Amino acid sequence: MSRDLIHAQELKGLVREAYGAICLDTRQIAHKLYSEEELAAVPDESVSRALGVNNHLRFADIEPGETVLDIGSGAGIDTVLAAKATGPSGRVIALDFLPEMLERTSKAAADAGLDNIELLEGEMEAIPLPDDSVDQVISNGVINLSPRKRRVLAECARVLRPGGGFCVSDLVMEENALPPEVLTHPAAWAG
Ligand SMILES: C[S@@+](CC[C@H](N)C(=O)[O-])C[C@H]1O[C@@H](n2cnc3c(N)ncnc32)[C@H](O)[C@@H]1O
Repeated sequence: MSRDLIHAQELKGLVREAYGAICLDTRQIAHKLYSEEELAAVPDESVSRALGVNNHLRFADIEPGETVLDIGSGAGIDTVLAAKATGPSGRVIALDFLPEMLERTSKAAADAGLDNIELLEGEMEAIPLPDDSVDQVISNGVINLSPRKRRVLAECARVLRPGGGFCVSDLVMEENALPPEVLTHPAAWAG
């Protein structure tokens, strides 16, 4: 029997609980990270639930016709912006482990009149997609939540086609930047 030395199941449960219960209006985050021009194209369903940490899409080289995977898509703010960048000949796969988040993305896609968004329920540590199946991986404020970050990065490399793009915004911690009582606090991990 393998032992869960990093408490991966416990941490996953904690993150599920934290994001499943979230009912804050976070539009202030969206207005801080994205331009008014960018937000004008995104339905309120996504803007009012933005939970990202930056705007990496400004650096992602998304071309029309490409297949993009948004890891931990949440309410879909980046999914919608990426779907506009790929255009109708491309598509964006919104991956999240919470059905309630995917429902928000689905509503946002309908409100924006986009039919090139596919919802995918699953975990970033075991992405339910074949090898070499996407052109770009994007993600905003999500990989830091995994207790198995190397595994997530290996999964990204597996699903990306050779030469594909990887463009994420996330949080990194310098060694000893926080005291152990903060680092091991459940609210700090999920938040
Ligand atoms: C901080 S929010 C970011 C949401 C979105 N990227 C944004 O910018 O608004 C983290 C998201 O990742 C999802 N998530 C967390 N852990 C996950 C995992 N192991 N697999 C898939 N999704 C996960 C959560 O359900 C939540 O929607």
